[in-house]
Amino acid sequence: MSNILGFGNRKFSINRNTGVPRPARRFSSGEPGLNEASSKVHRQFRAAHEGHLPHAGLDATRASTGVVWCTERAAEHGFLDEPDKWANLGQGAPEVEDDIEGCFPRPKTIDISLNSREYGPTAGIKPLREAVANLYNEMHRKGKPSQYTWENVAIVPGGRAGLIRIAAVLNNAYVGFFIPDYTAYNEMLSLFKNFAAIPVPLSEDDGYHIHPDKIAEEIARGTSVIITSNPRNPTGLVVANPELAEIQDICRERATLVSDEFYSGYNYTSNCDGSTISAAENVIDVDEDDVLIIDGLTKRFRLPGWRVAWILGPKEFIKAIGSCGSYLDGGTNVPFQEAAIPMLEPSLVKKEMQALQTHFKEKRDYVIDRLRSMGFTIRHVPDSTFYIWLNLEGLPGPISDGLNFFQACLEEKVIVVPGIFFDLNPARRRDLFDSPCHHFVRFSYGPKMEVLKMGCDGIERVVNKFKNLVSHPNYN
Ligand SMILES: Cc1ncc(COP(=O)(O)O)c(C=O)c1O
Repeated sequence: MSNILGFGNRKFSINRNTGVPRPARRFSSGEPGLNEASSKVHRQFRAAHEGHLPHAGLDATRASTGVVWCTERAAEHGFLDEPDKWANLGQGAPEVEDDIEGCFPRPKTIDISLNSREYGPTAGIKPLREAVANLYNEMHRKGKPSQYTWENVAIVPGGRAGLIRIAAVLNNAYVGFFIPDYTAYNEMLSLFKNFAAIPVPLSEDDGYHIHPDKIAEEIARGTSVIITSNPRNPTGLVVANPELAEIQDICRERATLVSDEFYSGYNYTSNCDGSTISAAENVIDVDEDDVLIIDGLTKRFRLPGWRVAWILGPKEFIKAIGSCGSYLDGGTNVPFQEAAIPMLEPSLVKKEMQALQTHFKEKRDYVIDRLRSMGFTIRHVPDSTFYIWLNLEGLPGPISDGLNFFQACLEEKVIVVPGIFFDLNPARRRDLFDSPCHHFVRFSYGPKMEVLKMGCDGIERVVNKFKNLVSHPNYN
């Protein structure tokens, strides 16, 4: 019997409950057996057909994004043992403390109502949906006849969950996205089979700017959904009006624009007056214009741990995005949604954004000065976000690419993210050295000033060490 089933010559174990022998695991795990190892043709077959891996069904390569990989490498250098001695400029997180002048103190406790013990609606609770709609109407749509209502807003458990919800409801489409952009798009866009992701490389010469012509070209080839972060991760540049309006005019009635505005608060283009740049400004009819805006508490309210975010868009889109939470994530936790409502009062948000912009611009200026004095060339001073897309080409050869620079920084207890992680390259077809992002790292000035000082000191030591090394007479 066992031979008929193909278990001949295999060891059997005993079922503890029944005492009946049962075959060992049918799928081999670990190293191949002796029979296989001694047969050339079997070895060839195994080399060509990935499979028989430990843990049936697991594809561990899908598990992590670039930032996680960087943290794992840093952990090998002792980061997790002494995190306070490190400058983590890798993670895209803002400082969360209450000591920024002018920012409102974050709640230290929250009420948990009886109601919030229940399952919440997967589109979010209505009062928070209303508060989000009101915020965008006040900040971006004053005097316009078409206004957002609660039905134009879905609350989602964080930005990534929101992006996944959007991806889940897209139909057969070409989805255009730009290189470089936010690392998680890579995994997200390769996860879904309902659309085809089309990478669109931007030009390094003009700071990876998204020109309206590019959008027109994409639409001409049949792309019907365009996704981009704006302000842009990792380049720290924003597409603002009138160009943003021009892009939206090109997309109107032709393509859905997904505007990921997670860094909207970090805007240094208007003297830190608290204003934010949003595609909401240029939408004509909130239910007709296919513009999906995504933002949340994560970055501009400096609450990445709360996992509260929102999507705005036409009612029909929002209905689908709200409902698909029922099979994807189950919705955002209710107590924190309730606690978020008072934070979105428009005059409070305006003051908060002023304080945020003033503080982060100061940090940006400090970091840019330090890096320039070390010899880095910064052609485009970032006008938004808390990232610097740092070109390494002027550095000594051994540290002039992102991976080697990253590695050298670890020795000095500094974490940055190698640029290649932002090269959205879903099929991983490109040689690493051919990547347009290979000579860059992303530097985050999200952390507190004292951490930035420590990080700049560490980078300065790296640069000096390698300058001395390559100028040494024995270096070849
Ligand atoms: C452009 C962009 N969108 C979305 C997110 C995700 O935010 P969340 O942490 O809420 O999932 C990030 C986080 O780094 C981001 O950079």
